[in-house]
Amino acid sequence: MKRVISRLGSLGVTMLLCFGCKNNRPNTSPVVNPAVTADSMMIVSARKEASEVGVWILMQGGNAFDAAIAVHFALAVVYPQAGNLGGGGFMIAHTENNENLCLDFRETAPMQASADMYLNPDESVDQKKSLLGGLACGVPGSVRGMLDLHKKYGTMPWAELLMPAIKLAEDGFVLTTLDIQELESVQHDLDLINGPNIFTSRSWHVGDTLRQIHLANTLKQLAVNPEDFYQGEIANQIARDVGFSGGIMQITDLQNYKSIWREPLIIPFRGYQIVTMPPPGSGGIVLGQMLIWLDWMKIDLYSHNSARYIQLLAELEKRAYADRSEYLADPDFFHVPIRQLLDTLYLINRLHLFPFNGVTPSSNIKHMPVSEHEQTTHFSIVDAKGNAVSITTTLNSAYGSKLIIKDAGFLMNNEMDDFAAAPGVKNQFGLIGGKANCIEPGKRMLSSMTPTVVLKDNQPVLVLGSPGGATIITTVLQNILNVLVYGMDIQPSVDQLRFHHQWLPDVLYLEEGWKAHNPLMDSLQSMGYVLQFRSPIGRVSAIMKNKNGRWEAGVDKRGDNYASGR
Ligand code: GLY
Repeated sequence: MKRVISRLGSLGVTMLLCFGCKNNRPNTSPVVNPAVTADSMMIVSARKEASEVGVWILMQGGNAFDAAIAVHFALAVVYPQAGNLGGGGFMIAHTENNENLCLDFRETAPMQASADMYLNPDESVDQKKSLLGGLACGVPGSVRGMLDLHKKYGTMPWAELLMPAIKLAEDGFVLTTLDIQELESVQHDLDLINGPNIFTSRSWHVGDTLRQIHLANTLKQLAVNPEDFYQGEIANQIARDVGFSGGIMQITDLQNYKSIWREPLIIPFRGYQIVTMPPPGSGGIVLGQMLIWLDWMKIDLYSHNSARYIQLLAELEKRAYADRSEYLADPDFFHVPIRQLLDTLYLINRLHLFPFNGVTPSSNIKHMPVSEHEQTTHFSIVDAKGNAVSITTTLNSAYGSKLIIKDAGFLMNNEMDDFAAAPGVKNQFGLIGGKANCIEPGKRMLSSMTPTVVLKDNQPVLVLGSPGGATIITTVLQNILNVLVYGMDIQPSVDQLRFHHQWLPDVLYLEEGWKAHNPLMDSLQSMGYVLQFRSPIGRVSAIMKNKNGRWEAGVDKRGDNYASGR
């Protein structure tokens, strides 16, 4: 690190490192929700029902992996906007035997997919096709991912892990205000793609119970013969309904789908190891670049959520997201220069002309020589044995492609929109993709999902992740900084207001709550930022080991998230 500092010094940067320090301290702390703590095991997910299923599995003697499988299937029932059978995801975990794991069950492009499949004759992109209906669907990975996880790390019988989800589908779950709002926002598209369907068959109200009998039957089938999803009756139904809806997915795409065990990225940061997602996730590399820069720049000298703090993060985010769009993609199809992107010299050079006291327009930032509704969902689990599991899973948009596999009762993803439909064209999150992330048959689309486990002395101390499309990475980053640099407990950390910059568009996104902080907003505007206030950023589900050695939950009240523990 000494070498790094001296190199920075030679670039004339060190003198600027401690500017802006404890000045301009705004009081941006929102109301803090009370902390939930537990002695030995804990689960935080997007829904009470799913978190309680997970704890029940742990109480039966299952481990965190058993609980994760049961929670994943429970979320497919009680959180249909993002929990899924027809989607995919990533897992990062740390085991009681000190292994760090990464499981990639991301969707793939069907074999008939092609780079120009969403282009109109005039070469413009028809984004409806990559977002709605059968042509938007990637080959789903979630069921294969859960099966492969169970084969290696499960201890309870597979069928038992699906029982709670079956019961929830049969008995139903009670719709919340957020459920109703989200259902209303997709009602038109659900009708358009499916005609009459379970989610819009009647007008739903808060407190109504939604039962899903087709889904219950599918889960029963999967409990007995999970391979049906990829090569049996359910596979036939998927290929048939995706085809009727204009898609190109074949049974062979499902038969050939594989999840992949990968080496997780491990980023050292201030005595901690941040275990996180490598490509085809973009989160680990962006997070790594940001944390390395912020450590050099002595981030702890900046007041939390001050104008200077926001400026520093935003300017670094622009550079990291520019690299994302050029270099990041499925490593099985494109050489991702992981080592170079995290290399000290590269990261120093990346700071050439860094505007410590100003703003670089995004149009002046390029990569250097050497790529929704934000309805993904995340859950975190720790068990009494020492296992920690961090899973982010998604259909991409809320209710995915809106296509329901009719007789099977589950939704298909619209993950194809996470590819770059054409170089330089935005996806639904406004993210610009380059050639690296172009569509190719069998390829995984680049993702922002950033499930993360933070270790201290090889023990998990923080397990976290979030939905939020492009904002996932900056949400995870801000919570890591809140806890590891600013010493917050996890609930106050999750309660903090969030902001986000992703290089393009050249806009600083801020949650609505920032509006109350006029002087701070004026400072940012006078620095040259274009501010855009927006709906909540992320819905974190996190667990942290607190000062007293207890597990403490970070439960995001931006959603219906819920912690359950013992
Ligand atoms: N579908 C959002 C992501 O994977 O980043």
